[in-house]
Amino acid sequence: MRPALAALVLLLAAAGARAEDTVRIGVLLPFSGPFADFGMQIGNGMALYLKQHGDVIAGKKIELIRRDSEGAKPDRARRLAQELITRDKVDIIAGFGLTPEALAVAPIATEARTPMVIMNAATSVITEKSPYFVRFSFTLSQIVSPLGAWAATHGIKRVYAVVADYAPGYEAEAAFTKAFTAGGGEVAGAMRVPINALDFTAYLQRIKDARPQGVFLFVPSGEQPIAFMKAFIDLGLAEAGVTLLGGTEIIDETVIATLGDKAVGVISTQNYSSAHPSTENRQFLADWTAAFGAHPRPNFMGVAGYDGMHAIIEVIGKLRREIDPDKAMAAFKSIAFMSPRGPIEIDPATRDIVESVYIRRVERVDGELVNKEIFEFAKVDARGCAE
Ligand code: PHB
Repeated sequence: MRPALAALVLLLAAAGARAEDTVRIGVLLPFSGPFADFGMQIGNGMALYLKQHGDVIAGKKIELIRRDSEGAKPDRARRLAQELITRDKVDIIAGFGLTPEALAVAPIATEARTPMVIMNAATSVITEKSPYFVRFSFTLSQIVSPLGAWAATHGIKRVYAVVADYAPGYEAEAAFTKAFTAGGGEVAGAMRVPINALDFTAYLQRIKDARPQGVFLFVPSGEQPIAFMKAFIDLGLAEAGVTLLGGTEIIDETVIATLGDKAVGVISTQNYSSAHPSTENRQFLADWTAAFGAHPRPNFMGVAGYDGMHAIIEVIGKLRREIDPDKAMAAFKSIAFMSPRGPIEIDPATRDIVESVYIRRVERVDGELVNKEIFEFAKVDARGCAE
């Protein structure tokens, strides 16, 4: 072989070896637009896990390849996922902020046999759409059913429901209504609002006239819950004693920071509060603050990104040699560990998460407004059934 050719062969061999020593993970999230907070929270959670534990596992370097889905844009999500697989040769895709992104990518996951780690999108049916999906966030039924059961047994009997007009909203409305009415409550009326609505005055005026005891709300985290909460307060519903109930979206860590003391008393459910009293959470918060500053604090998405990355690293560590998609999925199915949110595990039958769901109330603790956990439903599965 001529020397130049031999050098080229060596170079290509070295590049090949290097490529095999890298695990590429596509990160598909909204990093811009109205849902940019999803990308910030989940992206920070993933980065923090790697910062704490290093980005080399079983001799392989972890490379994150980020793509901006821009929000609920299914065509864009599909195209980006396809490019990540065919051009960037990723082994795994993680992220998925909104349900429409995950649903759009499901056929690609199945066809390409690419494991996909869902870190937010929360409509139950998603994990049924591809055997290569595993979810580290929650489902709407999982979060909202305990809230319906709790509200009905805590003096709230008549509620108006307001939900975003897309799949997660329909699931939230149905799951809340089922649990709340089973406990003796009545849903006096329901409204569906577009996922880009920011003016809630007319909706809330109608609700005020109906005089319910409570309002159940699901709109995706971001700008909407802040706008809704502001109108709820400005129109005097809070002052009139109407209890606002919802998933964490209505009052997550960023919303609390915006509303100040007006948020005190809001009841919500979720799998995570940054005020969760555990050693794991204290460490998580301290490291998050050191890496990204004290505000915004991590919310349910931050912890889902962190735990999802933890699981990915465990799976890569277990497989060691090559990331075979079916072996990776088998490994994801046996994941169980102590998260900053409490104990979590993957149900191998559904590839969904089993976790604690907390009822929280906004309170001022040590000078800071927090979602204080006031009740825990342990080991809740994706259908919303507790142990
Ligand atoms: C979803 O689209 O699945 C979704 C988005 C935001 C949330 C919850 C669910 O806060």
